[in-house]
Amino acid sequence: MANSDATSNDPVTVQPTALVTGASRGLGAAIARELAPTHRLLLGARTSQALEPILSELPGATGFPVELTDYEAVARAVEPVERLDVLVHNAGVADLGTIADSSVAQWRNTLEANLIAVAELTRLLLPALRAANGHVVLINSGAGLRANAGWGVYAASKFGLRAFADALRSEETGLRVTSIHPGRIDTDMQREIVAGEGRDYRPRDFLAASTVARAVRNAVETPRDAHPTEIVLRPIPR
Ligand SMILES: NC(=O)c1ccc[n+]([C@@H]2O[C@H](COP(=O)([O-])OP(=O)(O)OC[C@H]3O[C@@H](n4cnc5c(N)ncnc54)[C@H](OP(=O)(O)O)[C@@H]3O)[C@@H](O)[C@H]2O)c1
Repeated sequence: MANSDATSNDPVTVQPTALVTGASRGLGAAIARELAPTHRLLLGARTSQALEPILSELPGATGFPVELTDYEAVARAVEPVERLDVLVHNAGVADLGTIADSSVAQWRNTLEANLIAVAELTRLLLPALRAANGHVVLINSGAGLRANAGWGVYAASKFGLRAFADALRSEETGLRVTSIHPGRIDTDMQREIVAGEGRDYRPRDFLAASTVARAVRNAVETPRDAHPTEIVLRPIPR
């Protein structure tokens, strides 16, 4: 009779590890849901409290609560991470307005959250990423390809993020580095942007967060003979 316990001699399969920043809500939570079946997840947000709903929904995941612009706290948070297969830089802020109305604080806060914090988290995790020949996915934006009126500060941070990705790809040849440029996505951030524009919010005008999350999975699952460098997604209003 055939052995009914077919798995008893199989090697133990260890799931790859993925860290997703900004996973408490919006696109980051959708990326966490998308990767949960296949990855050991570390999920980031500013506080443990913000992470409670997504961690209850995905009980196998571990919280990574840290303010990403507090670089001493970030260094402490990454200490236990020795090997990292996937790093998704999703956390970000959008503070819109014209250049005429902008302030130094707005420029500093936006560049700090969307660019400098990404650079520092990546730098601190390079040994762990190299150990896994890992994949860095940067959630950029359509605003990282075109800078329109009223979007200058945010666009500058996302153009900078694109430059960071390109330099990282050239320097760290053992890693894969993908910039994803979605158009407007149905999230809290988009609700605030549309409210600021004084328009009614119609979720169906925007990309579903789950669709952009699927693009992250596709990038990560691309066979190793290809390097997905840029992915651009524009919404089709339904
Ligand atoms: N929504 C869009 O239309 C759109 C379009 C293109 C690209 N994007 C990009 O997609 C990404 C996600 O956007 P979203 O719409 O999902 O945003 P969201 O709904 O505003 O969520 C932002 C997430 O980032 C986290 N976060 C922000 N600043 C942080 C910091 N300094 N330290 C730690 N965590 C921080 C927030 O954590 P807390 O919960 O703790 O605040 C939250 O989890 C951003 O990079 C954004 O630029 C968005």
